[in-house]
Amino acid sequence: MNDRVPLPASLEQSAFFMPFSMNRQFKKSPRLMARAEGIYYYTPEGRKLIDGTSGLWCVNAGHCRKRIVEAVQKQVAELDFAPAFQMGHPLAFEFADRLAALAPGDLKRIFFTNSGSESVDTALKLALAYHRARGEGHRMRLIGRERGYHGVNFGGTAVGGIVGNRKIFGALVAGVDHLRHTHDLAKNAFSRGQPKHGAELADDLERLCALHDPSTIAAVIVEPVACSGGVLVPPVGYLERLREICDRHGILLIFDEVITAWGRLGKPFGGQHFGVLPDLMTTAKGITNGTVPMGAVFMRERIYEAFMTGPEMAIEMPHGYTYSSHPLACAAGLATLQVYEEEGLLTRAAELWPYWEEQAHALKGLPHVIDIRNIGLIAAIELAPRAGAPGARGLDVHVKAFESGAYIRVAADTIALAPPLIIGKSEIDQLFDIVRATLRATA
Ligand SMILES: Cc1ncc(COP(=O)(O)O)c(C=O)c1O
Repeated sequence: MNDRVPLPASLEQSAFFMPFSMNRQFKKSPRLMARAEGIYYYTPEGRKLIDGTSGLWCVNAGHCRKRIVEAVQKQVAELDFAPAFQMGHPLAFEFADRLAALAPGDLKRIFFTNSGSESVDTALKLALAYHRARGEGHRMRLIGRERGYHGVNFGGTAVGGIVGNRKIFGALVAGVDHLRHTHDLAKNAFSRGQPKHGAELADDLERLCALHDPSTIAAVIVEPVACSGGVLVPPVGYLERLREICDRHGILLIFDEVITAWGRLGKPFGGQHFGVLPDLMTTAKGITNGTVPMGAVFMRERIYEAFMTGPEMAIEMPHGYTYSSHPLACAAGLATLQVYEEEGLLTRAAELWPYWEEQAHALKGLPHVIDIRNIGLIAAIELAPRAGAPGARGLDVHVKAFESGAYIRVAADTIALAPPLIIGKSEIDQLFDIVRATLRATA
């Protein structure tokens, strides 16, 4: 295969308004990827980059997997699109049933979306509508958590807790409140796996119940591990306590598993690792290995049943997207599940975990490193911010790593690593060697 792809002469005047990007900085010195294979990206000049963050936490089985590529190619030539409103196509039903068979507990009903953001807003609407269907329409409040990330639609932005993502968009959605985040460097720095201190932070939900009255609260949404907000691993006992408080007050617990699903924590779904079953679970990203946009909300049987009680000639959930259960996404998803199953990828992170943890924590003592966190096949290296310039050091690391042969994500000054689950030990070494050299070279 020809490694070289023609470079655009200049991007500086390009029409493309890039999402979540420093457009002007990027267009002056672009970092482009032209093709990908396995755990590597290749730049247009043919330079090889190890993929340290599975694209955007989504390419769990590695890039351009033959089985998935061929399934999509075949599908696009057979049925390119089929409407999902009052119509259907067989793959959608087959894929939903396959997902339900994999799901924990009775999270057996599936609503398809096209992204994590859509999954989150769908789950929030399902929670409100569920309570209303049961005669508890007074439960209108939604609770998120500081430093949480739940995508960019209005509901997800409102329950999200990253200030920079919220502050320029007005009042967002009424009736939203937030739990405190769980990050505590003073007590938990350099924890391996779940930090010991902080389970009591779940009691913040009791505080909000006392403030608003639990009968007004529909749902609480948290990521089992808050990834985009800097990889905040839940303290031991925290999620269990949140579950218990929700149960006591009739509040639905939503796990946003857009990142933690599909094997990232060594089990098919993140909640399974913690032994906590949510009422609704949002997914996307790895559901199709990132190949075709798709998301899915999993709900417990009683939630689905609550919608199935009215007249049969009524639409039970007036919600959905033109591309919900798109044939290409279903084909990609079915092929992805096959790859995950054949290669044991949904549990592989559990095998790699000890080695991964050792290599991550071996970075302790390098310049600027103030914390290292890890869980499953995720690691975060938090750097001290430069005085008066938060995020600048993180950006420097991102750019230098790209120049040295690794693609890695940073959230402000925290490096977030989550490579494809097919990575081997020598490639883990390669990734950490580049991060180590980059940290030594960063002021
Ligand atoms: C936990 C979580 N929820 C929602 C989203 C939004 O997903 P998308 O970008 O596919 O809309 C993300 C994206 O990173 C995420 O990590």
